[in-house]
Amino acid sequence: MSDETLAFFRKQALSISDADQDAFIGGLETASRALDELKASGWSHVPACGMRDILQDADALEAWDDFVGTWDHLSEDLFMADGGRYRQRSYAVIRRDRQGHELLPPQPHYQSKVYNRANGGVDRWFEPISMAALNNPAFRASLEFGATLFDRMIGFGQMAGSGDEAFIVEAHQFRILAESGVHGQPTPEGMHRDGVDFVLVMLINRRNVSEGETRLARPDGQMLGSFTLCEPMETVVLDDHRVLHGVTPIHTEDPALSGARDVLVLTYRRDIGGKAL
Ligand SMILES: [Fe+2]
Repeated sequence: MSDETLAFFRKQALSISDADQDAFIGGLETASRALDELKASGWSHVPACGMRDILQDADALEAWDDFVGTWDHLSEDLFMADGGRYRQRSYAVIRRDRQGHELLPPQPHYQSKVYNRANGGVDRWFEPISMAALNNPAFRASLEFGATLFDRMIGFGQMAGSGDEAFIVEAHQFRILAESGVHGQPTPEGMHRDGVDFVLVMLINRRNVSEGETRLARPDGQMLGSFTLCEPMETVVLDDHRVLHGVTPIHTEDPALSGARDVLVLTYRRDIGGKAL
């Protein structure tokens, strides 16, 4: 790990000014529609054009291609219980409060077996998300979109609160690979909760990939919807308490070439005074 990365991990706020937040909230149709749908049904499918508007409002659109490029430097996930070698990823944990964003020290990702039958129950260490990705305006805008949306969703005015209220955001860059005759499983655990409060999944890129359908269901298993994230920036936001999610395996379209599905996953957990609720 470089000195630069270490210094950043020690304590550097990814400061997003109040002005930026105001600009983001500024009556964006996309954000208000997503909020309405989240309240009504527990999920919202945000079209690529809507996310494009959000990134544009945050002056993040020009940085998009660089952001996409950071997926070319991920490391293999070595914690695949099925022995699969089809998943690459990186991971970071960020505390987001009224003062801005603070990257927390490197830590393992833990999910109980309750939430992840396939790979849960152990501390999983992944390569940290690169500085290039963390500092990219597209990452910040995406993270802030979720934080603002979910804060409004909770309706407790977190960011205007006493100051010890925050979201703990776990950020994951995923690349799922497919080869001829070998499918890649975006969610080997099947339909699941992430065990947090809210989830944002944004498609970054698809290359020579078919299928990979996103499926949503109620906790009792009743299907709520299904769609395929096809366009870069296309996003789904979820209330993790009300909606299970899963993605069907991906296959190569042209069997002579490899395929890949890249996504950004941001999970948000409420935290008050250092305690998860
Ligand atoms: Fe998940």
